Amino acid sequence: MKVLVLNGPNLGRLGRRQPEIYGSTTHDELAAQCVAWGREHGQEVEVRQTNHEGQMLDWLNAAADEATPVVLNAAAWTHYSYALYDACAQLEAPLVEVHISEPKDRPEEFRHTSLVTPYAATVIAGRGVDGYRDALAFLAG
Ligand code: DQA
Repeated sequence: MKVLVLNGPNLGRLGRRQPEIYGSTTHDELAAQCVAWGREHGQEVEVRQTNHEGQMLDWLNAAADEATPVVLNAAAWTHYSYALYDACAQLEAPLVEVHISEPKDRPEEFRHTSLVTPYAATVIAGRGVDGYRDALAFLAG
């Protein structure tokens, strides 16, 4: 089974970005871990990151066309992008929403809303980068 792991804005700086919140694992390390975790379940995992919303929408549209399961950390877009909401609505294969931190426990009120959750089969948040492992395990069933 093919699985796409899609990471949104500012996650390319994982490991250097606010490590007290997001930890010390870099995006490259996370990508390698996801590929290895997926292999344990026979999944062919591809990890992508973008700071460009249109790119993310194109990837989600292609995932809808191809019925590919998606693990999505849309980062800040989660909280305000209606285009992202519409893109998630089209997905037919399962969508797992992941956040490294627990947005609901953070002080900024804007983080308490998610436009991804209505279309997510499950939400995994606050488990650090291990949340991606849990997301892949969820998809493996
Ligand atoms: C995040 C949480 C979001 O609120 C934030 O905008 C991010 C990362 C997380 O993984 O914890 O960029 O999605």
